[in-house]
Amino acid sequence: MEVTITVNGTAHTLDIEPRELLVHVLREDLRLTGTHIGCDSTSCGACTVLYDGVPVKSCTLFGVQAEGVEITTVEGLLTAAGLDPMQAAFKEHHGLQCGYCTPGMMLVGKALIEQNPAPSDDDVRDAIGGNICRCTGYMNIVKAIQAAAAAQQQSAPTPAPANA
Ligand code: FES
Ligand code: FES
Repeated sequence: MEVTITVNGTAHTLDIEPRELLVHVLREDLRLTGTHIGCDSTSCGACTVLYDGVPVKSCTLFGVQAEGVEITTVEGLLTAAGLDPMQAAFKEHHGLQCGYCTPGMMLVGKALIEQNPAPSDDDVRDAIGGNICRCTGYMNIVKAIQAAAAAQQQSAPTPAPANA
């Protein structure tokens, strides 16, 4: 079945099986292998992508359900200017070890700080509650997401004074 899926700002028209999961469309049809597969059963979060800005587990959706939606994968975080602040914060704060969970963690972090520019420890832990990390113990992931939030706030334009 023919569908058009927009991933990281680029529209792709693909002929896919209606039963094909979104994670397989991303990894196998589009070769975007930064989206990982851990459990294939909605438990680990390794396959997390943003679906119109909302984190979803791409092993839980069919590819055809992404028609007309903006999908962001970890590859979409990198810009011409370099690493996204979330990527830079994970690097600086040692938010990863093996890296298997990292794409999903960073995308959940991105969605969180869009909604909550200064998340507490508990806010971050709630947000990443569906994402499993076997390596880090989570503490540095929490620190990295909070550091990315702080960097985002620092780079936000200062509002003009009301009487300017
Ligand atoms: S691979 Fe999708 S949640 Fe684990
Ligand atoms: S860094 Fe290895 S699973 Fe999280």
